[in-house]
Amino acid sequence: MARFHDLTVTDVRKTIRDAVVVTLRPENGAAKAFDFIQGQYLTFRRDFDGEELRRSYSICAGRDDGVLQVGIKRVDGGAFSTWANDELKPGDRLQAMPPMGGFFVELAPERARHYLGFAGGSGITPVLSILKTTLAREPKSSFSLVYANKGVSSIMFREELEDLKNLYLGRLTVIHVLETDAQEIDLFTGLVTAEKCAQLFATGWIDIDNVDTAFICGPEPMMLGIAGALREAGLDDGQIKFELFASAQPGRAKRNAAPKHTASTANQTVFAITLDGATQTITVSKDTSLLDAALENAIDAPFACRAGVCSTCRCRVLEGEVEMKTNHALEDYEVEKGYVLACQSHAITDTVRVDFDQ
Ligand code: FES
Repeated sequence: MARFHDLTVTDVRKTIRDAVVVTLRPENGAAKAFDFIQGQYLTFRRDFDGEELRRSYSICAGRDDGVLQVGIKRVDGGAFSTWANDELKPGDRLQAMPPMGGFFVELAPERARHYLGFAGGSGITPVLSILKTTLAREPKSSFSLVYANKGVSSIMFREELEDLKNLYLGRLTVIHVLETDAQEIDLFTGLVTAEKCAQLFATGWIDIDNVDTAFICGPEPMMLGIAGALREAGLDDGQIKFELFASAQPGRAKRNAAPKHTASTANQTVFAITLDGATQTITVSKDTSLLDAALENAIDAPFACRAGVCSTCRCRVLEGEVEMKTNHALEDYEVEKGYVLACQSHAITDTVRVDFDQ
């Protein structure tokens, strides 16, 4: 079961005015637990005025970079991101869970594939990790990136992307699409919509017929438009990988409420929850989410976004049934195997057995 570990901040570097790249060193022999796969994220926790806040940030380093780095963009009103941008410094300690997330495909050195990435704003962080790792580990593969930003000054990792283009000459193409700054090519100005994608495909800027897998990370409306255009162009759902933009996560964690014992018997369910090898049985109202039920009963279930986005609260239903309100995180094959997001799941049977350890 994932648990929080101490990490020391070894470097904090501005990539643009309102975003930092934070380098971390796991402590107390936890380095192995922080071996990551490209495209994964870390979930941090910190107390702000006595309230615990959890936030997830994607790893921006490639697997072969030899460092653990996340990118943190300041979000308006975001306590964690503002603190990280204004106050975090080398020598500070952070607490994070080991890397999580399934925003990647397996790589194989002998394969020659073409990948397409779409990133909006700080959605570049996992895509950068993916493209660096892919170009290093699949020497015959190539990568095209469409990167959407407001203007030139908000492009995170601009120089790093230029360096990568030079390092992997002919294998990495980067198209910057800027909302407000005019560019030489009209098509590269404006928003990345379904129509814009269709034009990029039709004009040959993106050779869509030869794309094996597309990765999309950004705000939801942008992702839906792009996914629609990719399907229209003939890609199937298995070829399209999503990672919802981190700002879809609410900033503050809810305080744990007092246990609710008022629900009528008919409306109650018995959850048997296994975590860290121990099973506890609790009775709660059926309209209490599985995550809240666990937390209200002092079961330290993992979570971060509480919005069905990050998958930190993933667990497996072994018996009984739950209904998931929202799912932006689990793949169809995981749902088929019985995995659910605890923060979005309510019991619909009178007993439910779930396991957070699987
Ligand atoms: Fe993020 Fe449930 S806590 S999906």
